[in-house]
Amino acid sequence: MSLKIIFGGIGIAALLALLSSVASAQGVVGSPHDLQPSTTNTSETCVFCHTPHGSSTSAAVPLWNKTLPAPATYTRYSSLNTSTLSGAEAPVGSVSLACLSCHDGSQAVDTVLNTPGRGMGASFPAGTQIDAAVFDAMEGTPVPMLGTDLRDDHPVSIQYGGGGLLGSDADGTANPANLGNQDFNAPEKDTINTNPAWWVDSEDTANQTREKTDMILYTRTDGPAGATGEPMVECGSCHDPHNSSTFVANQSVSFLRIPNDSSQICTTCHIK
Ligand code: HEC
Ligand code: HEC
Ligand code: HEC
Ligand code: HEC
Repeated sequence: MSLKIIFGGIGIAALLALLSSVASAQGVVGSPHDLQPSTTNTSETCVFCHTPHGSSTSAAVPLWNKTLPAPATYTRYSSLNTSTLSGAEAPVGSVSLACLSCHDGSQAVDTVLNTPGRGMGASFPAGTQIDAAVFDAMEGTPVPMLGTDLRDDHPVSIQYGGGGLLGSDADGTANPANLGNQDFNAPEKDTINTNPAWWVDSEDTANQTREKTDMILYTRTDGPAGATGEPMVECGSCHDPHNSSTFVANQSVSFLRIPNDSSQICTTCHIK
């Protein structure tokens, strides 16, 4: 069965969400990431991505309910060999791998580790589809199905700002002089449970406090040499998979951290 069936359902759901936008904040329910309305096999929304138990530990993504693809599957942006690239790449991982577990088209969007409701183990083996009669792998390329060739996508799993020894910076705004590439705005740093947390304050919220409307940067333990704890750009830097409020008909897509008017997503990071 083709995913077109889902898109029909999503179209109506998105329209209804749009019509009721005055009344409610726009989260994941009713958004293109709410796959539930397409099936009667579950009444849950989050289960297509998260499970409270039995989640994947293959990458640092929260309670992930899908098998994560192997990082080596991907052709990375750096192999395009643009002469201007200054940051080093990690293997494709972190939240990017979570997005790609649907958006590379390699497995059905409803294939999960822990199916909704009772039972796991033998009677409900991991990797079961929630509704194989309705769902399939994502179609359409280069978007929304990005495929495994990421040379035509904004770099992910890449050092922010060309790298640099930012990890030695104290909490607060990192020293811009430490950025390997001066064409970037300095990121903010905070220490949470001894782990460094990084973000770039968006113009929407230039307050040195991390919010969902800031460009979130991610740390890796499997990054380039010396880059553990250093800030990296992933899909989640520009996208919040729960936020459908940035959708404007014929203008923008859902799940952007802030609307991209005047390309302010881009200029939050790039000094251009
Ligand atoms: C289409 C996939 C998808 C769906 C559906 C989804 N999430 Fe998420 N969620 C993600 C991804 C990817 C992340 C990691 C984001 C990051 O690290 O920036 C995440 C992160 C989170 C986090 C931790 C970070 C944060 O943003 O607070 C919470 C809590 C969360 N999700 C709750 C939920 C709940 C509750 C639902 C259902 C109402 C839900 N999610 C539905 C993909 C999804
Ligand atoms: C979260 C921060 C961030 C945001 C937001 C962002 N970028 Fe980037 N961008 C980067 C980083 C980091 C690199 C890698 C640059 C490097 O290492 O030289 C990069 C690389 C690029 C490159 C390739 C550079 C090269 O030399 O090959 C282009 C072009 C680009 N970005 C354009 C954009 C555009 C257009 C937008 C808005 C849609 C955008 N970026 C948003 C951080 C960001
Ligand atoms: C469970 C599978 C799944 C996961 C995981 C997932 N997506 Fe999606 N995503 C979808 C589907 C299905 C659509 C709808 C595609 C369509 O309408 O053509 C979609 C649509 C989108 C869209 C387009 C929204 C619009 O307004 O048309 C964006 C942007 C997006 N996803 C980004 C992400 C990012 C970033 C992540 C990770 C943080 C992610 N997705 C994780 C299934 C997923
Ligand atoms: C540097 C910022 C940035 C990063 C990183 C990024 N995106 Fe996007 N993405 C955007 C912007 C901006 C748009 C909206 C483009 C538009 O309006 O045409 C977008 C659009 C999309 C769309 C919808 C495209 C369409 O035209 O329907 C999908 C799907 C998507 N992104 C998935 C991803 C996934 C998966 C990743 C990680 C592999 C990712 N993005 C990484 C900025 C980014």
